[in-house]
Amino acid sequence: MAVERTLSIIKPDAVEQNNIGNILAMIQGAGLEILGMRMLHLSRAQAEGFYEVHKDRPFFGELVEFMTRGPVVVSALQADDAVVRYRTLMGSTNPAEAADATIRKAYGTDIGENACHGSDSVENGRIEVAYFFPEYVLK
Ligand code: CMP
Repeated sequence: MAVERTLSIIKPDAVEQNNIGNILAMIQGAGLEILGMRMLHLSRAQAEGFYEVHKDRPFFGELVEFMTRGPVVVSALQADDAVVRYRTLMGSTNPAEAADATIRKAYGTDIGENACHGSDSVENGRIEVAYFFPEYVLK
């Protein structure tokens, strides 16, 4: 097992529904250490830049609109196998398909408003942590 870092975003739907504390408790309960954390309201340019990999997808406009609707909480997480550990904790992208005891099962609404984001690979974790927390990129 290797120590990894991954980026978490608690999305606007979960912030609006006062689920920040509940989600952070699940993150810490799963053994993920929160290295750094910030609440911010993403600008359109920040959201478009973060999700640039999806820019040609039909849902891109809707995704950017949603992610800029209100504040989010971004955090840099660290653990052994942090990427898979956090993705397992989040559950399937579509909350209707998410397993019990996952964040999206508990707090997601639909495939667009799914409560949280986590990096999908170690390499993307590096890129995404750097996007918000350059000081926490694993050397
Ligand atoms: P996330 O893990 O943040 O990565 C990209 C996001 O795009 C994803 O979670 C979903 O919230 C969103 N997404 C994926 N597929 C769709 C879809 N078909 N319609 C709307 N949003 C989607």
